[in-house]
Amino acid sequence: MRVAVIGTGYVGLVTGVVLAQLGNHVICVDNDPEKVKKLRQGIPPIYEPDVEDLLKKGLAAGFLCISDSIEEAAENSDIIMIAVGTPPGFDGAPDMTAVKAVASEIAKSIKHYTVIVNKSTVPVGSGDVVEKILLDAGVKPDMFDVVSNPEFLREGSAVYDTLHPDRIVIGAKSKEAADKLVELYHPLGSPVHITDLASAELIKYASNSFLATKISFINAISRICELSGANVGDVAKGMGADRRIGDQFLQAGLGWGGSCLPKDVQGLIKTGERLGYNFELLQAVSDINEDQTANFVRRLERRLGGFEEKTIGLLGLAFKPNTDDIRDAKSLVIIKEILSKGGKVRASDPIAEKNVRQVFPQITYLKSAYEVAKGSDALLLVTEWSEFRGLDWDMIALLLKQKIVFDGRRVYDRGALEKSGIEYHTIGS
Ligand code: UDX
Repeated sequence: MRVAVIGTGYVGLVTGVVLAQLGNHVICVDNDPEKVKKLRQGIPPIYEPDVEDLLKKGLAAGFLCISDSIEEAAENSDIIMIAVGTPPGFDGAPDMTAVKAVASEIAKSIKHYTVIVNKSTVPVGSGDVVEKILLDAGVKPDMFDVVSNPEFLREGSAVYDTLHPDRIVIGAKSKEAADKLVELYHPLGSPVHITDLASAELIKYASNSFLATKISFINAISRICELSGANVGDVAKGMGADRRIGDQFLQAGLGWGGSCLPKDVQGLIKTGERLGYNFELLQAVSDINEDQTANFVRRLERRLGGFEEKTIGLLGLAFKPNTDDIRDAKSLVIIKEILSKGGKVRASDPIAEKNVRQVFPQITYLKSAYEVAKGSDALLLVTEWSEFRGLDWDMIALLLKQKIVFDGRRVYDRGALEKSGIEYHTIGS
C-alpha cells in the first residue's frame, strides 16, 4: 500500500520504517531540513535499536523515501498518518498546533480519496477537529475519512513493539477506512479492535494512565513496606501472580517518566476537566509519582547530613534504559535538588549524557560507574542500564569516599553490597 507518515519522531519514524519493511511504499515527511537531510543519508535523529538498520534497508530497497513536502506525500499515498508531536501546553493539555497545521496542509493537497490517520496521542474529539479542518477548507466529505490508530510502542523496544503489538486499535466512522487499515496491518497477525473515533482516542490515554496508576500504586505500597518492614519485591510478586492483576508494571522505584506517561496522565486529567469530571484518582497517581523521587532524595540528604560540600555519584540519566530520552527523567529532578542545596554531581550514562549536558553543563560526566564512584559521598542508581547491574562492589567500596549506595531501581543484592562493607539503601525494603 502507499502510505505517508508526517513527522519523524519516535512514533512516526518507527512506524514508517516498519511499514516499509513490510513491503509498503512509504514516504516519511518532516519539516525540519536538517532531519530530512540526515534521514536521506540513513541517519535517524533518535536513538532507538534497529531503526537505523531498517531505515537504511528501506531506502536502499526503494520502499522508503524521505520528503519535506506534505503535498508530494499526499499525491503519492492512499493513507496519510499524522505522527507529529503533541507536547503538553502551558496548562498540561496536549498542544494540538502541529496536528492542526498538518491537517490544513493535507486539506490543500488532497487529490484523491485518502484515509487520514491520527497516530499522535490526541485528546478525545481530535479526530472530529481534523475532519472539520478539512471540511472547512472545502474538501468534499467523500474524499477522505479520519481514523484514530493510536500507537503503543515503548522507547527502547519500539521496533519490536510495532512488529508485535498486543492489539491494533482502529477508531473509524466508515467501514471502508477501517478496512484499509485492517489490510495494512494484516501481515502482523495481531488482534484488531475496531471502535468509534472517540473510544480509540480514549483507549490510548486510558492505557497509559492505567500503567502509571499501577506503578504509582506499587510505589505507594513500597512506602507502606518501608514503614512496616515488608519487602515490596515479595509483595509485587505475590500480587502479580494473580492473573487479574498481572506481574508487569509492578516494579517499585523512583517512579515513571518519559515522553508518554507523564503527558498522558496530565492530558486525561485535563480532558476530564474539559468535560466536567474531576479525575481525582489520576491527580493522586501523579502526586505519588513526584513524591516518590522527592522522598528518596530526602532520605539521601538526611543520611549525608545535607548536600552542602557533598559529591553524589549518579548512575544513569535517561528516563529508562536503552534510550537517550531524558524527557521527565528522574535524573533531572535529582540533579536540580542536589545542586540547589550546594552539592556536586558526578554522573554517567551510556547514551543520554549529551542531552543532559545541555541542561546541566556544570556537572561532571564520566565514562563508567567506577569513575563516578571515585571520591563520591554516595552512589545513586537512577536508571537500571545493564552496564550498572553487575558491578564489582569491592572495587566500588575502595573508590567511594563514604561507602553508601542508594538504589533507586531495586536491582542490587543487599547481601553482596554489605559483604563489601557498603551501606545499602533502597525503596520498599
Ligand atoms: C509507555 C507505554 O508503555 C507505551 O505503551 C506507550 O506507547 C508510551 O509510553 P515508554 O514511555 O517508552 O512507554 O516506557 P515504559 O517502558 O512504559 O516505562 C515508563 C516509565 O515507567 C519509565 O520511567 C520506567 O522506568 C517506569 N516504570 C515502568 C516503573 O517505574 N516501573 C515499572 O514496573 C515499569
